[in-house]
Amino acid sequence: MAVREILEIGHPVLAARAGEIDPGDIASARVQGYIDDLIDTMHAANGSGIAANQIGIPHRIFIAEVKGRNPRYPYKPPIPLTVLVNPVITPLSEETFENNEGCLSVPDLRGTVTRHLEIEVSGYDRGGAARRFPVRGYSAGTYQHELDHLDGVLFPHRVSDPTTFSSWKVFKEFKEEAFAAEVKQLVARWGA
Ligand code: NI
Repeated sequence: MAVREILEIGHPVLAARAGEIDPGDIASARVQGYIDDLIDTMHAANGSGIAANQIGIPHRIFIAEVKGRNPRYPYKPPIPLTVLVNPVITPLSEETFENNEGCLSVPDLRGTVTRHLEIEVSGYDRGGAARRFPVRGYSAGTYQHELDHLDGVLFPHRVSDPTTFSSWKVFKEFKEEAFAAEVKQLVARWGA
């Protein structure tokens, strides 16, 4: 178990599509070690999710967790620690929302991205069991952000209106209050 260095935007491992893991290898010490390092690194960085290629592992694993009040994203509703190997996301409706995102691999930048509001997430958990569950509401954006990483896509690539870019300091000062109110409405409607 270790806290690993987080790669930053432009790094070739972040820009490439990560490869599938043979489900028969999930129980191996190698893959279990990857998952432990993802958890340790996400916790150390106060992230709400992290993908394996962000720590230099070119394989399709991401994790997500929001426990209590996340200092980077105080408005995010809780997500239990979720580990997904070979994740797949399928939209369950056409409805979208505008999500202001940041990323551990994109230092001091935030921007607004359109995300599906209702999705189905599937993949394998760290015990190798197949999982399939819906995510409806604000948290759907977190899962889509993490899956994008495994396809070499970072949130700035998806920002359609470049005037939404801001530093974290400017977001906190001028935008967070209004955005947190939007998130609150989504959470009230969907419970997540
Ligand atoms: Ni990210």
